[in-house]
Amino acid sequence: MRPERQRELLARVNAHRRAGRATDEAEATMALPTATYTDPDRLAVERRLLSSAPTVVGLSGLLPTNRSYATVDVGGSSVIVTRNSDGHVSAMFNVCRHRGSEITSGCGEAARLACPYHGWTYHLDGTLAARRRDEYFDGAPSESLTSLPVFEQHGIIWVAGDPDVEIPPDPLQGAEAELAPFDLAGYRLFDSTTFTRPINWKLAVDTFCEAYHLSTLHRNTLAPMIHDDFSVFDATGLHGRMISTRKSIDQLDPADGTADELLPHATILWFLVPNTVLIHQQDHVQLYQSRPGATADEAHLSVSLYTPPKSERTERYWAKNFELLVSVTDTEDFATAAGIQRGYHTRAQDHVVFGRNEPALQHFHRSLNSLLE
Ligand code: FES
Ligand SMILES: [Fe+2]
Repeated sequence: MRPERQRELLARVNAHRRAGRATDEAEATMALPTATYTDPDRLAVERRLLSSAPTVVGLSGLLPTNRSYATVDVGGSSVIVTRNSDGHVSAMFNVCRHRGSEITSGCGEAARLACPYHGWTYHLDGTLAARRRDEYFDGAPSESLTSLPVFEQHGIIWVAGDPDVEIPPDPLQGAEAELAPFDLAGYRLFDSTTFTRPINWKLAVDTFCEAYHLSTLHRNTLAPMIHDDFSVFDATGLHGRMISTRKSIDQLDPADGTADELLPHATILWFLVPNTVLIHQQDHVQLYQSRPGATADEAHLSVSLYTPPKSERTERYWAKNFELLVSVTDTEDFATAAGIQRGYHTRAQDHVVFGRNEPALQHFHRSLNSLLE
């Protein structure tokens, strides 16, 4: 983040600190029907959105070399993303053009992608390389894997799960002004995991979009390090960026107008619609992606940790860090979300409320609703 932007945002944080326990506010409280999280018809519309809108599949470090491939889920379809010898990223359905077998799983390096069923091989850009026993097939061997729109910019890879969709030239919608200086393209994927939980997919995004719950739900884990007030929120297009303030800021005098470094005292979170949360912590980046499972009551959650190029931290340090972040989000956030999801099916209430102190949450739901329209 550029120094002048850090100064500006730090000034906003300090204004909240001088005011007591203040935080950025939305204009009004917002009510959201609980059916948003349970209605199968709503889910069907959301699935159409998630399978056509550009979504983040990873940072550039997902494909670290010019022979890398990775298998990802886009809108419920298995998709292969690759980086070719010229560094160019491609995306295609993970569906063999012979009889439809899935070609890869996981990620790795390869010169070609080979279908495990009958051995047809494809170049990393998806074009057919060789058809085994070619003489049995009439016509020219022209079948390429069906390619999908893909876009890599500022270290973030976007894919649309619909071949007919065009990804706009600015999928970050202005968020790049702050994101670009982080040089995310140089980050390395340390580890990633995906698990399924009994919650609506949006609840996983919700849990990251406010700091209000830190001192209660995360009393013993995150609250000793991060304030639940003094947050700063800005919408960038349909996306949003929220800054939570680390307790190290207590050493700074809120009236000190010369202080200019925000980054050592900040956790910076972007939600990138429709389903991604990217968090810059002091020494690494976390990426969360949430997708609907079989019903509105099930989500597949991916958690990834990316490390900066020049870190001196050990593998052991990152492994511990990754384990901790998965365990806190799973045992505290997602476990609470599972109870919320059960509650939505009772007749307790037909709507939930987002306070004025939860502006990011409000913006996420307004953005999603506008995309669904
Ligand atoms: S299904 Fe892939 S080679 Fe037959
Ligand atoms: Fe949380």
